[in-house]
Amino acid sequence: MPPASLLRRDFLRYLAASPAASLAGADPAVIARPEEAINVLDFEAAARKALPPAHWGYLATGVEDDATLRANREGFARVYLRPRRLVDISGGDSRTELFGAVWHSPLGLAPVGNQKAFHAEGEAPVARAAAKTDTLQVLSTATNTSIEDVAKLLGRPPWYQLYPSSRWEVTEYLVRRVEAAGCPVMALTVDTQAGRRTETFERFRVQDERPCAACHGPEPGDFFRRKPMFSGVQTAGLRTSNPALNWEHVRRLRKLTGMKFLIKGLETAEDTRLAIDNGADGVIVSNHGGRAGESGRGTIECLPEVVEAAAGRIPVLLDGGIRRGADVFKALALGARMVFIGRPYLWGLAAFGQAGVERVIEMLNAELHLVMRQCGAVSIRQVTRDLVGLRG
Ligand SMILES: Cc1cc2nc3c(=O)[nH]c(=O)nc-3n(C[C@H](O)[C@H](O)[C@H](O)COP(=O)(O)O)c2cc1C
Repeated sequence: MPPASLLRRDFLRYLAASPAASLAGADPAVIARPEEAINVLDFEAAARKALPPAHWGYLATGVEDDATLRANREGFARVYLRPRRLVDISGGDSRTELFGAVWHSPLGLAPVGNQKAFHAEGEAPVARAAAKTDTLQVLSTATNTSIEDVAKLLGRPPWYQLYPSSRWEVTEYLVRRVEAAGCPVMALTVDTQAGRRTETFERFRVQDERPCAACHGPEPGDFFRRKPMFSGVQTAGLRTSNPALNWEHVRRLRKLTGMKFLIKGLETAEDTRLAIDNGADGVIVSNHGGRAGESGRGTIECLPEVVEAAAGRIPVLLDGGIRRGADVFKALALGARMVFIGRPYLWGLAAFGQAGVERVIEMLNAELHLVMRQCGAVSIRQVTRDLVGLRG
């Protein structure tokens, strides 16, 4: 006898597929508990159901036609596996070392701002899930929970994502504060300086009848006043972008801190070489999950040129569109040292809190272990370039 939850899902699927469904307006099958998920994509519909339209739109949106958002997914289909047989695959270990620290797997949680939009406790359940699964968490500049509180829940300081600020003294204050909290690695996000058009978000926002100002405040500066990392900071007129940002700022930041310093949001060989020349300890190939500009190129397609330009001098990391263990595998085989998910763990958070985040991480790690074994790799070091090919 299958468990009741499966029977329920089967029944809902049957209902959704039946001709009567459109007449009766039946819901498509949506998981009611994390254990019901068959893969992490099952969390998407559950999150959509759990969130008000504006917050769902903020989570789901890309920019303009969402073409880059789709390209991030589609890019993985152009990478195929070249499995090796008759390799001893008993055992299997996904442990990953980077900058002197070790995690259970090469899958980390990307920085995402404003997580109270998805769960009343914001980043706290994510930190608890990351601690339980031994997963790297990166905290956003726009976090709703302070780095000190996250570090306590996590059992070690998270990495920190820095947005350039329109005032240098604020940038300096944030860097000093996260360094004092023990943060080992800081990533400067550079892909949203030009502004962006999040059209999908706009479409959902107008469907939300709740007054935004009730939570967000009437003034643009309220954005900072409600953020714990900005408590005590003079936020009038402050912006989390600086159109004048250039490589000189990067050198200045590099000199300011002893933390490892990454640049997040690069897509080209040229910028990778400049990042190295200007002191970066690593780069994250990213297009902000298709939320920065409509480049039309998935991050997995950008990865080979970045890895070639880095030439082993610095680690290359990647995010964007990872929804399967096989995607993690493909990115590693093409030269990424670690990869990050954004939306999938937020779906888990929005739908089921800590338990949802845990399940998303565990499912992706289990899939990664499976595909490693299927390809004849029992450690991350054995996930090598020859195990994948690129379609023309
Ligand atoms: C709702 C949302 C908020 C985000 N906020 C930030 C942020 O504050 N800082 C940042 O560097 N990236 C931010 N990102 C981008 C993520 O760090 C990451 O690059 C992206 O989500 C990866 O793509 P994926 O969602 O397809 O996994 C955000 C992404 C989402 C979906």
